[in-house]
Amino acid sequence: MEVIIQPNYDQMSKIAAQIVVEVLNAKPNAVLGMATGSTPLGLYKELVRLHQKDQLDFSRVTTFNLDEYVGLPVNHPQSYHYFMHEHFFKHVNIPPQNINIPSGTTSNYPAFCEWYEQRIAQCGGIDLQILGIGSDGHIAFNEPTSSMSSRTRLKTLSKQTIDDNARFFERREDVPVYAITMGVGTILDARKLILIGSGKAKARAIAQAVEGPVTSMVTASAIQLHRDAVVIVDREAAAELTMRDYYEFIYAAKPSAPRS
Ligand code: F6R
Repeated sequence: MEVIIQPNYDQMSKIAAQIVVEVLNAKPNAVLGMATGSTPLGLYKELVRLHQKDQLDFSRVTTFNLDEYVGLPVNHPQSYHYFMHEHFFKHVNIPPQNINIPSGTTSNYPAFCEWYEQRIAQCGGIDLQILGIGSDGHIAFNEPTSSMSSRTRLKTLSKQTIDDNARFFERREDVPVYAITMGVGTILDARKLILIGSGKAKARAIAQAVEGPVTSMVTASAIQLHRDAVVIVDREAAAELTMRDYYEFIYAAKPSAPRS
């Protein structure tokens, strides 16, 4: 695992965007796994800027979002469909038919989840999965005790996640209790992972994910099992990492590291 500590949120977002650019340069028809929430906003803003300024091309890209709230229609302002269109899709040139987001309103959740997994496989698997992290250590909506081999399915949100996400809704009671989410196993199948974290509210979860035991109590710790995972954090989110100096040393020495 590579851990990159940046001075602030903007720098964190730029480094994450650079990794997306590298993946697209190597494979213009890459399959990208997308995350929502406040953390990736800066990353999406930077990708939109690169699309508009440098013609970063998404015309052959396919995307799969991690999750969606159950019960919210696609035009609900707090749905992840709406979020993705507002903050990213409507500003870049991904063909609409290449965009995949779990349905929060399907009539048959198990069948939809199975279809979503098949669709990822049909598209050749996810090349780069973008991840945020919940303050309870979740990735996607894989709440504590989610199996490390879980696949796309329905999950009940934890009290912590409902509290955290209440800031986006008028009332706490409006936060959906259920979500459809890719599983930890689905995420681990991606060829590359980037996990971004910002602010002191994430410091504990980041330390547990990076340096703690691999445990389904902190599903983000599953990234330790992945052979190409990059964690990008700002200083505040890095505050509880005990090996901070070492990560900074590795990153600073990276340009002169032997490549072959
Ligand atoms: C959203 C998702 C979640 C968020 C996490 C952090 O698609 O997968 O795991 O990444 O809840 O959310 P923010 O960034 O709002 O703190």
